[in-house]
Amino acid sequence: MDLAQAVALPVAGVAALRSLRAAGLGPDKRVLITGASGGVGRFAVQLAARAGAHVIASVGSAGRGDGLAEAGADEVLIGLEGLQRPVDVVIDSVGGPQLVAAWNLLAPGGSVQSVGWTSGEPAVFPPYSTVGPAKSLASFVIDGDAGADLAVLTELAAEGAVTIEIGWQGPWDRFAEAAEALRGRRVSGKAVLEVACGELRGTVDSAQD
Ligand SMILES: NC(=O)c1ccc[n+]([C@@H]2O[C@H](COP(=O)([O-])OP(=O)(O)OC[C@H]3O[C@@H](n4cnc5c(N)ncnc54)[C@H](OP(=O)(O)O)[C@@H]3O)[C@@H](O)[C@H]2O)c1
Repeated sequence: MDLAQAVALPVAGVAALRSLRAAGLGPDKRVLITGASGGVGRFAVQLAARAGAHVIASVGSAGRGDGLAEAGADEVLIGLEGLQRPVDVVIDSVGGPQLVAAWNLLAPGGSVQSVGWTSGEPAVFPPYSTVGPAKSLASFVIDGDAGADLAVLTELAAEGAVTIEIGWQGPWDRFAEAAEALRGRRVSGKAVLEVACGELRGTVDSAQD
């Protein structure tokens, strides 16, 4: 595996794999993935599709959906536009009003995994929207040893069963440009900063000086 791909895989890949597992993935499940254009989202789309789920990928604008159908999404939506049938699982990276809307679409017995909150907006649940048939909103974080899950993911990547998408790659001194592209929602998948060994040694030396 190319080094850039190797560094782009772990955090987003493990978050996608574990949150899907925690939600209880199965062949007939309808799975909604918000922030599907991003790092976690693109892995989640591919892994859910491999598990035989019906995958609904939600993105912020038309162009952000590029490549998601090829990655395994059965439906690619802007926001939650037109989505009326309930879903069994939500992998949510966006938070805010979209999390509330996704909660309202959740079928009894279903689970929302709150993986991230890129919108930065508050989520306001209307009165009684959390009262009714049992369904769950679970917080999610990667913890513990990720070795076994990384082995699963690297094997899938090596087989070509999972694609690691890098939407921005460049030297680390262009960090501001990479951050701006991420904040501006122009990166599909991950951004990778390259650090050459010599550069790193020089920086450590000058930090020690
Ligand atoms: N809990 C954990 O262990 C864990 C692990 C990994 C990541 N995370 C978190 O999960 C989230 C996603 O990570 P990522 O690597 O996939 O991030 P990302 O690639 O930067 O963003 C994911 C998507 O969020 C959407 N987005 C960005 N800004 C938005 C805004 N203002 N309003 C609505 N949507 C917005 C974008 O999609 P569109 O442009 O298509 O709208 C973007 O593609 C982050 O919050 C990250 O911190 C948590």
